[in-house]
Amino acid sequence: MEWTKEERYRPYSAMSKTEESRLLHVVDHAPWRQHYHIQPPTGLLNDPNGFCFYNGQYHLFYQWFPYGAVHGLKHWYHTTSTNLVLWQGQGVAIEPEESFESHGAYSGSGIVVDEQLYLLYTGNERDSNWERTPNQCLAIMKADGSIEKHPSPVVEGSPPGYTEHVRDPKVWQENDQYYFVIGAQREDITGCALLYSSTDLLDWTLVGEINTSLDNFGYMWECPDYFELDGHGVLLFCPQGLEAKGDAYRNIFQSGYILGSKLNVSDGSMSHGPFRELDHGFDFYAPQTTTCPDGRRILIGWMGLPDRSVPTERDEWAHCLTIPRELTISGERLLQNPVAELKTQRGASTHFSDTTTRTFGHVYEAYVTFTPGETSSTYGINMRTSESEQTVLTYEMATKQLTLDRSLSGEIPATSEGTTRALNLTEHCHTLHVFMDHSSVEIFVNGGEAVFTSRIFPSEGATGFNTFTNDTNVTIQGTQWEIF
Ligand code: FRU
Repeated sequence: MEWTKEERYRPYSAMSKTEESRLLHVVDHAPWRQHYHIQPPTGLLNDPNGFCFYNGQYHLFYQWFPYGAVHGLKHWYHTTSTNLVLWQGQGVAIEPEESFESHGAYSGSGIVVDEQLYLLYTGNERDSNWERTPNQCLAIMKADGSIEKHPSPVVEGSPPGYTEHVRDPKVWQENDQYYFVIGAQREDITGCALLYSSTDLLDWTLVGEINTSLDNFGYMWECPDYFELDGHGVLLFCPQGLEAKGDAYRNIFQSGYILGSKLNVSDGSMSHGPFRELDHGFDFYAPQTTTCPDGRRILIGWMGLPDRSVPTERDEWAHCLTIPRELTISGERLLQNPVAELKTQRGASTHFSDTTTRTFGHVYEAYVTFTPGETSSTYGINMRTSESEQTVLTYEMATKQLTLDRSLSGEIPATSEGTTRALNLTEHCHTLHVFMDHSSVEIFVNGGEAVFTSRIFPSEGATGFNTFTNDTNVTIQGTQWEIF
């Protein structure tokens, strides 16, 4: 279907009841709807936004276009949860209706101040010549759930030296000051993150760029996020325009982090190690973090990528978010593991220690340990198998390479870069922690050293699972749980 500009830029409030019922009916009968992942009721979901614990529960918003699976007028859709696992849709939180956000309420973040949730986001404004102005906007949510927009942007347009691509503020507080990092493009068409500061969340001053050693690292950085963990500074961001290098940077755009000293908020300096990708699967982008009341740092990402399509578009919906991951630090790296709360959803379990094919269905968690022998061997798991389908994770001890192959995973998205993703591990593959849903798989490797996140679109009958190895000296132990 071809969308006209009018159709693409229609707000949710213009949707008739008939239209909504039709869309809901189509989506309701669509294949590949997820069981425990956050997905849009209709239309297209992208970045997670405004992730915060506020007023006794977690609030998470996402970029949403309600009318179909295209990147149209972006709204913020609101979901809440008391345990990070079961989420309740709350409807639209921010609908772009002001001139300063005429072409979308783009990504942003939240911070709790004086018992209110302050939501900072990018108002994407376009004029009649389609010239874009990025405005940083504020909306304030009260405990009763009502949201009021600040009448004017808190930062208008791009600062001198930067193009129209300035967006996605991520806010935090340090001492008596507020700060946000924001993705930007310099006039020489290289990407960076800018740092702003404020004493009241209304009046913002540009401190400058976050001074990294990555001066020429892609043409735009989207969705930056800065936080401190265990005395380290961590900057997450999504550079666009990096070329694939071996197994690295294989998706259209990247999402990763640098870890180092704490950011010096007075001049933006930060010494840091190399850029590392957060995920090694086919579908991961624009993650956002928050802290839990108990201090854990939690990350949720978009299980999708800009400019990349999925087969569910035929049924008027697209994309979902990842499960929440807890971040910890080990040496100079981030570890990512599924949040402990997910265990509350475990149902009946099955243990296995052989390579027999078992029927695990579409929705489950599995934890598999491998203890290799002396000789170099190959081992791994086959998931969502049927006579003709399989999603395969293979580990080669000789090269320490772990490869995810979705070439036989069912319907392959029309646009993606190849059918395998691989990574060389720092130590032999000893654990695989799998979260399977109807149309996705997330695999946590070696206690969080690496994650492979991917959408897959298998047929209904692809329910099998088996481990494999070419060496009888490899010991395999596994448990599978149904997920409520
Ligand atoms: C990332 C992104 C953000 C932008 C949003 C718009 O996926 O392009 O930079 O704010 O999506 O939906």
